[in-house]
Amino acid sequence: MPHKTKILTVADLDEAVDWIRQGECVAFPTETVYGLGADALRESAVARIFAVKQRPCDNPLIVHCHCQAQLHDLVRNWPRDVQILMDAFWPGPLTLVLPKRRRVPTIVTAGLDTLAVRIPDHAVALAFLRAAAVPIAAPSANLSGRPSPTTAEHVWQDLVGRIPAIVDGGPTGWGVESTVVDCSRRPFRILRPGGVTVEQLRKLAPVILHEGVSGTTSDSPPAPGMKYAHYAPAAQVILVTGPQAQREIQRRIGELRACKRRVAVLTFTEFRECYPDAEILELGSLDNLRQAAANLYNMLRRADALGCEVILAEGLPAENLGLAIMNRLRKAAGANIVITRGGP
Ligand code: TXA
Ligand code: MG
Repeated sequence: MPHKTKILTVADLDEAVDWIRQGECVAFPTETVYGLGADALRESAVARIFAVKQRPCDNPLIVHCHCQAQLHDLVRNWPRDVQILMDAFWPGPLTLVLPKRRRVPTIVTAGLDTLAVRIPDHAVALAFLRAAAVPIAAPSANLSGRPSPTTAEHVWQDLVGRIPAIVDGGPTGWGVESTVVDCSRRPFRILRPGGVTVEQLRKLAPVILHEGVSGTTSDSPPAPGMKYAHYAPAAQVILVTGPQAQREIQRRIGELRACKRRVAVLTFTEFRECYPDAEILELGSLDNLRQAAANLYNMLRRADALGCEVILAEGLPAENLGLAIMNRLRKAAGANIVITRGGP
């Protein structure tokens, strides 16, 4: 059903909540990316999310709460070390996968007996969740397969005419989606790296990286959603890593130009002079990974706006927040990953 999409502000949250009560989807900001929210306990409303995003129905959703008390209706009692993670990182960019209660419609979890939950750290998100007074199921508010939206404008690009309203809370802070940790089995497994890092989690609980996250190949994707093409702009992304990455990117710039392909290099401030006459998509300084994460999806979308056909993305160390950034770059690149060897 086509909609005349309205941009709302925090002052119009009542209107956003009205749409939720009517079983509709509304986009809202969180500290990670914009979410496409609907009443998590209403099957028909959740079905709208899948239809609007064109999301495969075997990819489960995260349910957002404004306080821990709301969780008791959704997931079964959790052990002490899960409580420690909740207390340490919520509100914040951490999603915990826990055994679900029966009252959560199976459409939310794509038939799994576990549910992903989180409390976002964003004043507008929390105000919206409080006013809605129901748990809100929300994937990122992009069309399936596109980069996640970090501004209301990005949501508009993908979903205009498909949803009644977008709550504009300005650019999101983190820019990459939450860390997803499966706490339904031991040791806990990181299914998707994000703002809360492995290093931080390990100080409080025994967690391991699912092999699909650490970059080693795996037949079973960590989270159901990870098997799909993800985070991809229209341009082809080629991720180049290893000690000879810059030389390899320079070589490829020449090669692609010779074939008249429009190419851009996704890199850091420190390295931009390595590519003097290339189109640069700058993530910021390698010393400021918060900024790099916040810029990542915006840069992928900018490449499309510039009409780039190929993005040569320079790899970075997969540590701390770098793990989440590399994970998204790998997903965007799909099979196009070049690992250079030898000395610099
Ligand atoms: O930061 C975020 O997490 C954002 C904001 C809006 O909260 N949301 C988000 O949702 O990124 P989405 O749907 O784009 O990604 C959810 C991920 C998917 O990879 C999905 O497969 C996984 O979480 N997931 C959800 N429920 C799960 C479950 N029960 N078991 C394993 N993985 C699950
Ligand atoms: Mg998503």
